[in-house]
Amino acid sequence: MHKGETLTQFIIEEQRRTHGSGDFSGLLADIETACKRISAAVNKGDLIGALGALETENVQGETQKKLDIISNDMMVEAMQWSGHLAGMASEELEDPIQIPEKYPKGKYLALFDPLDGSSNTDVNISVGTIFSILHAPKGVTTPEVKDFLQPGTEQVCAGYALYGPSTMFVYTTGHGVNGFTLDQDIGEFVLTHPNMTVPEDTGEFAINTSNSRHWVAATKQYIDDCLAGETGPRGRNFNMRWVASMVAEIHRILNRGGIFLYPRDNKNPDMAGRLRLMYEANPMAMIMEQAGGAASTGTGRIMDVEPTEIHQRVGVVMGSKNEVAKVEEYYAAK
Ligand code: AHG
Ligand code: MN
Ligand code: MN
Repeated sequence: MHKGETLTQFIIEEQRRTHGSGDFSGLLADIETACKRISAAVNKGDLIGALGALETENVQGETQKKLDIISNDMMVEAMQWSGHLAGMASEELEDPIQIPEKYPKGKYLALFDPLDGSSNTDVNISVGTIFSILHAPKGVTTPEVKDFLQPGTEQVCAGYALYGPSTMFVYTTGHGVNGFTLDQDIGEFVLTHPNMTVPEDTGEFAINTSNSRHWVAATKQYIDDCLAGETGPRGRNFNMRWVASMVAEIHRILNRGGIFLYPRDNKNPDMAGRLRLMYEANPMAMIMEQAGGAASTGTGRIMDVEPTEIHQRVGVVMGSKNEVAKVEEYYAAK
């Protein structure tokens, strides 16, 4: 591995090292292609009429942006043809996506949030794509919802693309986290961030404080103590950031540390938090842990949660290890 090598080369070298069949490498290459296409659409924005919302809502009752659907279709089209997948599941679609009959079936399942942070598309702020790869249960070629309901610990691979000032592709297969930057001149992702590691301590938190009246007591106490600064119980000052794009927040934390919280709150008793376990929390948790950080619901490891529904939500606290442990202390004490 060396800085400057292409993602294609990196994937093939990893395949050789693990004596892979090439199946997984092919799947990653398809995802890479989809992310390049989405990057181009996000980048062109209003020039191709891609901004704005549709009349439709997704299964979670959220307004769909044009780019949500464009990105979803690009992910599906890039992955369905090549014979690596048994099926897919998307944040934007109620039911799992079956592979059309005309294509061969494969042994993996892909789950994805095609465009994360899509409320930011119209205002030219960073968005991203998040993906998670699982093995299809043995012998399953037409996967049902239950086949996708595997805990995060079963993930074969997790990653994201960030469409920011640069487009980046960051992923892990369980052997550390590596980041690649899209060189627009040659159309290739190039290794720029080998072995990404999250600093263990931080003085920076990210949370949507407009929800504070809905927070549980432990979250409220933790944030109050951070805000109290030097003279408060934490004895130091904290800074705050909130982009409203999880990909952007996690990317910042991977680079300079921090803690990201979208905790379970009392806003909607039917929802255990805002973020989705299968498309957002699990893949980001794997990346965070592989980079030396931690990912918790507040009361336990995210990747140990046994999923019961494909679109289920979960409380999320992730980032610098010691700070995540600190939040867990607050939860344990309340
Ligand atoms: P999505 O655009 O895929 O629905 O995800 C948005 C998520 C996440 O990226 C972000 O952290 C959070 O929702 C923003 O929530 P608020 O609107 O409450 O700030
Ligand atoms: Mn999202
Ligand atoms: Mn989304």
